[in-house]
Amino acid sequence: MEITPNAQRYIAQEEQYGAHNYHPMPVVLSRGQGIYVWDVDGKRYFDFLSAYSAVNQGHCHPKIVKALCDQAQNLCLTSRAFHNDCLGPYEEFATRFFGYDKLLPMNSGAEAVETALKLARRWGYVRKGIPENQAIIVACRGNFHGRTISIVSISTDPDSYSNYGPFTPGFEVIPYNDPAALQEVLERHGDRVAAFLAEPIQGEAGVFVPDDGYLKACYDLCKQHNVLFVADEVQTGIARTGRMLCCDHEGVRPDIVILGKALSGGTLPVSAVLADDDIMLTIRPGEHGSTFGGFPLAARVAVAALEVVRDEKLTENAERLGKIFREEIAKIKSPFFKYVRGKGLLNAIVTEPHDGKEAWDICLKMAEKGLLAKPTHRHIIRFAPPLVINETELREAIRIIFEAFEEL
Ligand SMILES: Cc1ncc(COP(=O)(O)O)c(C=O)c1O
Repeated sequence: MEITPNAQRYIAQEEQYGAHNYHPMPVVLSRGQGIYVWDVDGKRYFDFLSAYSAVNQGHCHPKIVKALCDQAQNLCLTSRAFHNDCLGPYEEFATRFFGYDKLLPMNSGAEAVETALKLARRWGYVRKGIPENQAIIVACRGNFHGRTISIVSISTDPDSYSNYGPFTPGFEVIPYNDPAALQEVLERHGDRVAAFLAEPIQGEAGVFVPDDGYLKACYDLCKQHNVLFVADEVQTGIARTGRMLCCDHEGVRPDIVILGKALSGGTLPVSAVLADDDIMLTIRPGEHGSTFGGFPLAARVAVAALEVVRDEKLTENAERLGKIFREEIAKIKSPFFKYVRGKGLLNAIVTEPHDGKEAWDICLKMAEKGLLAKPTHRHIIRFAPPLVINETELREAIRIIFEAFEEL
């Protein structure tokens, strides 16, 4: 793939002055609109990563950008020492939207996960009666919940946890997609387990979709043992998988829902935890928070972002186009292609290395042809376009993916 001197300048600058905690593809973007992004040389690409599903509503959605700009000229930040006229309307809107009593606003996905962990432990002590400092939270192998010390304490990916110890105690990690493993833990010491934390589909693990009925089986086990079912919907939530929440596929209503990413349509870091009063009100004033959590700008933007999802029927679009995507991609005939999996518009192709080439090379080839996607775990390529994509555009993107596999 050709890297122009213009692009090379930006790449070199990041390399020299930025920490080396990412390994980006050699594409330098400067503009985005809807499903497309443009690089510094004016070349247009389909964005099939959507900032890890943060841009479900499409880049720079006019309604969301308007809400952002209008509010930015009015009031950006007040501390939570005072009330503001954006937070309450947002909290009412979002709790009705998702059907929970209360919302706790944070910024990044990882912070929302941390918040859910604290909330679950707190509930475990004050409601369930777990003896002090003995609460256990059960998580799943292959998870990705973020980058804080406590969160990487439950990671099973050495890249995420190596040399970051000592780790936070109080977790048990069991195999994913294995209700019997959850049953075993709960039978062994369910009286000390506060919560079971899971992604409804493991996104970063390579869009690993559990068997039908897995979430429901886990939810039922949690109920039998008075344990909270906590769903990390940071990547799968907000229409991405063809339902508003991925748990909706199985009719499961989690006790705690964690949201992030698309909650702002990709304009600001906005995350949230949703729960009912019995759980949420166990945290009292002064016991948790964040300077920016629920700031006026975020509150206005989040309402606009959710309205776009509802008004533009992005859930239905993701469901319908996701089926077409998997049906068509399954027809690829290439030694690099193993299979496609996913739900809605969260999909992945599992590839097979061949002739010394692998998923990274396929992604470079697709980028050359005007489509951006990135490998995860070396042999898996995730495809998650903005949910505002239409069928014609999707078929055009599929054609590029076919050609890339053919030409490699
Ligand atoms: C399921 C899940 N949870 C949490 C996070 C962390 O979100 P953030 O990067 O905003 O901290 C991610 C990010 O990819 C995620 O996919």
